[in-house]
Amino acid sequence: MTLTPVLSAFWDDPQSFTLEGYSRHGGYQALTKALAMSPDDVIALVKESGLRGRGGAGFPTGMKWGFIPQGDGKPHYLVVNADESEPGTCKDMPLLMANPHALIEGVAIASYAIRATHAFIYIRGEVTHIVRRLQQAVIDAYAAGHLGADVDGSGYALEVVVHAGAGAYICGEETALLDSLEGYRGQPRLRPPFPATHGLYGLPTVINNVESIASVPAIVLGGPEWFGSMGTEKSKGFTLYSLSGHVKRPGQYEAPLGITLRELLDLAGGMREGHELKFWTPGGSSTPILTAEHLDVPLDYESVSAAGSMLGTKALQCFDETTCIVRAVLRWTEFYAHESCGKCTPCREGTFWMVQILQRLEAGNGTEEDIATLLDTCDNIFGRSFCALGDGATSPIVSGIQYFRDEFVAHMTGGGCPFDPVAATVFAGAPA
Ligand SMILES: Cc1cc2nc3c(=O)[nH]c(=O)nc-3n(C[C@H](O)[C@H](O)[C@H](O)COP(=O)(O)O)c2cc1C
Ligand code: SF4
Repeated sequence: MTLTPVLSAFWDDPQSFTLEGYSRHGGYQALTKALAMSPDDVIALVKESGLRGRGGAGFPTGMKWGFIPQGDGKPHYLVVNADESEPGTCKDMPLLMANPHALIEGVAIASYAIRATHAFIYIRGEVTHIVRRLQQAVIDAYAAGHLGADVDGSGYALEVVVHAGAGAYICGEETALLDSLEGYRGQPRLRPPFPATHGLYGLPTVINNVESIASVPAIVLGGPEWFGSMGTEKSKGFTLYSLSGHVKRPGQYEAPLGITLRELLDLAGGMREGHELKFWTPGGSSTPILTAEHLDVPLDYESVSAAGSMLGTKALQCFDETTCIVRAVLRWTEFYAHESCGKCTPCREGTFWMVQILQRLEAGNGTEEDIATLLDTCDNIFGRSFCALGDGATSPIVSGIQYFRDEFVAHMTGGGCPFDPVAATVFAGAPA
């Protein structure tokens, strides 16, 4: 399988991020085409394409748009989730840096389709340079008439607001995001009711990931058949795979769904010289780790799930044999404990105590009972937490013990980390 650059097609153009650069590469033609269609036809086209949300869960995008009640006389909203905070997930920020107009054009098309006159882009506040780039792109799109009171002379009016969050992983969870956007503390909402009927300010709202919305212009122009010519039967199209970790050429690789990690590693020059793949995440730290046995698993929603994990955000963090699994799992768990919003007991208490146990295990002071307690705690968090952050926190622990139990035990029998000399440099970020 080879690369299929669409979103990343002209990232090497020094002017890729400008309105002029985007227009030179065919930008805003899809908006003209969409505005000549009825909103319902745009929704039908996106449904037919089979596009699935790229924010992690893979929910069909057209179907989500179709849930918005029509003819209800109420304002509707589009909210773009640009919070990107999952460890390992790093596709939306490069996309916004290199090609912000793909998102803005997608926002205009999606808003038109769901009959929204206001759209919000909720972006992670710490990435100041990208917030500024996106704000400038929105200003330029207004000036060119692609946004505003009369979008491209069609009579359709759309206001777009870029809102910078204050930097909390939980604000990427769609209902916590809505609370944060409304000015409240970002904590998940009880569902039902769902955002499609009771979203932002209690009104019908579609929430989509940056990559999902940025893919829409190409789909409108190319058509569902072209989109479906890439990928698999149920996981259609192109997508951004983010390779990071101990690989020779980390970065964004845009390829059809269903490509394997082996193929992607070939394109990325393989693991660093003299080292082998030990474990990897298919979709960020909330997805159970896989090992070298899974190099040939097609990276689509169904196949990764059949292999015992989830495709998630396609954040392929690759770790070689110098990495201590206990250290990696501890580090991820510290993240979840720090980011737990505290609303529900299993996640708030469980993540805190799991860090204590993992610290003990990593230092060589653990017992077999600690491993059992970790698994039992995960069992009490999974499916019993208020939102998916709690479930995600259990993934590295359960899968880490599943594949590398011996290494957890070796920390006890050896009185400490068997990887210590190397791990110390690797985790300090120094070249090994
Ligand atoms: C803790 C947590 C963090 C999340 N962070 C993000 C995020 O940063 N960006 C994102 O698009 N989706 C994130 N999601 C998923 C969203 O809740 C939601 O499913 C997604 O934005 C829907 O967009 P899509 O259908 O286009 O994939 C997160 C979910 C959870 C539980
Ligand atoms: S699972 Fe964690 S992040 Fe989600 S509501 Fe409960 S405490 Fe908050």
